[in-house]
Amino acid sequence: MTDTITSLEALTPSDLDAGTVFSGTPSGKIVRGFATAMAFTPVVDTKYIFHEHSRDLVVWFIGAFDPLYVFGPCGCGKTSCIKQLAAKLNYPVFEVTGHSRLEFPELIGHHVVRNGNMEFEYGPLTLAISLGDFFSAMKLTCWSLPPLLV
Ligand SMILES: Nc1ncnc2c1ncn2[C@@H]1O[C@H](COP(=O)(O)OP(=O)(O)OP(=O)(O)O)[C@@H](O)[C@H]1O
Ligand SMILES: [Mg+2]
Repeated sequence: MTDTITSLEALTPSDLDAGTVFSGTPSGKIVRGFATAMAFTPVVDTKYIFHEHSRDLVVWFIGAFDPLYVFGPCGCGKTSCIKQLAAKLNYPVFEVTGHSRLEFPELIGHHVVRNGNMEFEYGPLTLAISLGDFFSAMKLTCWSLPPLLV
């Protein structure tokens, strides 16, 4: 876990040309990314097709970092779109699979015993927020929602 924090802290922000990154043709539009990938950066899928709808997400990446909620029918490509954009820009992605008994510590972290000592292990939400000004995507798949949330 210390390695993860160290790797996150070592990420170097980088201004990339959106056109070069996504289509191979320079556009002059700067999009913020990181100079290198790390363990949580998705792998580029060479077969992935950036369709027309990905443009909206690229614009969001270029603009202010307001929270983004992506929704759509099962299997329509929400996760892969986010992950492939992140892969191109070297953003780490932290994934959480939602379930009806999901508890807050699973998101923020909890204490674990390691080598006879208690250590706090950061959860995906805490790790994502630790990137400060920068964004990292956290996928929360909500299946089997408890009745109160439906
Ligand atoms: N633009 C694309 N190019 C190539 N493959 C794609 C594309 N969009 C989606 N796929 C493929 O379709 C499948 C479903 O995509 P994905 O898992 O991203 O959907 P989802 O909307 O996140 O699904 P769920 O609602 O189940 O979470 C995956 O195998 C993914 O690789
Ligand atoms: Mg998904």
